[in-house]
Amino acid sequence: MKNIKKILVVSFSQSGQLADIVSALVDPLVNETENGRISVVTETLRPIEPFPFPWTALEFVDVFPESLEEVPCRLAPVSFDPDADYDLIVLAYQVWYLAPSIPVTSFLQSPEAARVMRGRPVITLIGCRNMWLQAQEKVKRRIAANGGLLVGNIVLTDSAPNLVGVITIAAWMLTGKKKRFLGILPNPGITEGDIVAARRFSPAIRGALLNDRWTALQQALNRLGATPVVPAFILFESRIKKIFAVWSAFIRRRGERGDPARKPRLRLFIGYLLTAIFILAPLATGVTALIRLLKKDKINTLTDYFQTNHLKEP
Ligand SMILES: Cc1cc2nc3c(=O)[nH]c(=O)nc-3n(C[C@H](O)[C@H](O)[C@H](O)COP(=O)(O)O)c2cc1C
Repeated sequence: MKNIKKILVVSFSQSGQLADIVSALVDPLVNETENGRISVVTETLRPIEPFPFPWTALEFVDVFPESLEEVPCRLAPVSFDPDADYDLIVLAYQVWYLAPSIPVTSFLQSPEAARVMRGRPVITLIGCRNMWLQAQEKVKRRIAANGGLLVGNIVLTDSAPNLVGVITIAAWMLTGKKKRFLGILPNPGITEGDIVAARRFSPAIRGALLNDRWTALQQALNRLGATPVVPAFILFESRIKKIFAVWSAFIRRRGERGDPARKPRLRLFIGYLLTAIFILAPLATGVTALIRLLKKDKINTLTDYFQTNHLKEP
């Protein structure tokens, strides 16, 4: 009897962008495999109380503390069998505030995730704006805690310059319309071309899966540009992480997500974000360049680290 390999793909997407990325990567695995040697089960995570899309500005920041601190929400029961014998799990996620989105964080902390991941290879597929390093550290930790083995990571990001990307993605998230802001700036999000091109990763995954050989997969994916690490963002994210922790504690002292008592502090946080993005970050660019020069070896080591699936101690 022929040996059919089974993949479980778990994902969540608000606008459909991540769903398109998943299709671009996963469809070729099934379609181009002779004699149907690979079968795929897809699981779309469904929060019991849906997250808004488009968001209002206050709703958008109200998910900040719980995203950062990985506080789970309630999910509808999963429809896959967590005790089935999967050969590979693909976890597709987007980043919310330097962390996996709340639906994905919730799945990672569920008993079903622990059951299905234990002892199994896992590939993460990220579709975000441009900052995924800290989020992936959190996901690495969760996968390890579930007993899964992270064998691959593929990241797709917006190609627009940072400031342009902030404006276009904010307009997209707050209107729900993925179109050119004011008709001049580029389309928000990951380009159609980049999404379609995600199929280039599929043959390496298919080869590893059919042969059950995972050790060289990440290197093969990296040769195709799977993990775009921007050195300046290593410093940037670690700096923001510390500031975000303070803001998060400050907001949560007024209540949990949805509590109207948080509103004044959320408004302050919006003010901070706007100042940080449009004033502090551009000012810090020069300082960051200097630090990169002074800490060249350390940054190079970290750049290499973020392109692997190893996990540093917390
Ligand atoms: C609340 C929120 C916070 C986000 N924070 C980040 C972030 O910290 N870093 C980043 O690169 N992208 C961030 N994004 C963009 C998302 O990662 C993602 O690209 C976008 O939401 C589209 O995903 P979708 O497939 O769910 O529609 C954020 C999006 C939302 C809604």
